[in-house]
Amino acid sequence: MSDLVRVENLKKYFATPHGILHAVDDVTFSIERGKTLGVVGESGCGKSTLGRTILKLHEPTSGKIFFEDKEITELNGKQMKPFRQEMQIIFQDPFASLNPRMTVYETIEESLLIQNLVSRKDKKAIDKKVREYMDLVGIAARLINSYPHELDGGRRQRVGIARALALNPKFIVCDEPVSALDVSIRAQVLNLMQDLQAQFGFTYLFITHDLSVVKHISDEIIVMYLGKIVEKAPAKRLFANPVHPYTKALLSAIPVPDPDFKANRIILQGELTSPIDPEPGCRFAKRCQFACDKCRGADIPLKEVEDGHQAACILA
Ligand SMILES: Nc1ncnc2c1ncn2[C@@H]1O[C@H](COP(=O)(O)OP(=O)(O)OP(=O)(O)O)[C@@H](O)[C@H]1O
Ligand SMILES: [Mg+2]
Repeated sequence: MSDLVRVENLKKYFATPHGILHAVDDVTFSIERGKTLGVVGESGCGKSTLGRTILKLHEPTSGKIFFEDKEITELNGKQMKPFRQEMQIIFQDPFASLNPRMTVYETIEESLLIQNLVSRKDKKAIDKKVREYMDLVGIAARLINSYPHELDGGRRQRVGIARALALNPKFIVCDEPVSALDVSIRAQVLNLMQDLQAQFGFTYLFITHDLSVVKHISDEIIVMYLGKIVEKAPAKRLFANPVHPYTKALLSAIPVPDPDFKANRIILQGELTSPIDPEPGCRFAKRCQFACDKCRGADIPLKEVEDGHQAACILA
């Protein structure tokens, strides 16, 4: 077993006019080569910040980041260059990340030239490669000269994926890649991402607030709450046996297609803890029906509840 990506005690804090915002707070995990780590949690819990910090699009506040066992935490922009290609990101809204003035051809060509696999002058080789990548992600050849606004959401996301692929990455942070798509297209794009992973052995950090999506694509899942990991487990086990009260509440909120099935939905009450200068202790305590004095005063570390399954709860 070899880990492609590892983070140790990673923190990303932002200075705000109101105090220090703890967006990612002491997070440790690793992702095995070729596997998918799902990241779930409510809006604002730090999922995107985590993904961006691992790629060093944000400078980490403290902690360590390793890629193929090489520490990249302190590398500057120039030193990061060889890693930039190998670590890619796919965003929720490819409209925002694709250049509106570049056609499908030009977008993929740009990646190919960065990768230096084809000569800028060899138009024939570039054309062939561009078409190969379009085929790989399922974009019809007739769309080669289309601009992003001429494509529907699913095709735009496919272009975003092709652009990342043409850089020949090993690790891809997928930040809500299907959340903006119609439900009917969502499954197609997810299947594509899984097929590509099987074909090329990509390692994914798959961020989403949609639990039904993450269940199928992930090998392991971490559940985040206000910057902290509150539970981590193999995907199936997390769904079968959630331990942390927050995970239980999240899972209970997944819509069930059967109208006769009465889900025991847990409605979270109580005020949200602020991520700005949070007090020590469990950050979920104010909303937790089981909270007691032991939950306050000191942070609750993750502890092993069964092999490979950890939860940060005194009840665990
Ligand atoms: N550049 C920044 N400066 C200050 N605060 C930031 C910055 N980026 C993110 N934050 C804050 O960090 C916290 C985590 O934000 P983040 O975007 O990582 O959450 P998220 O889990 O991705 O949410 P969503 O599901 O809405 O995408 C939030 O409180 C957010 O306001
Ligand atoms: Mg986000």
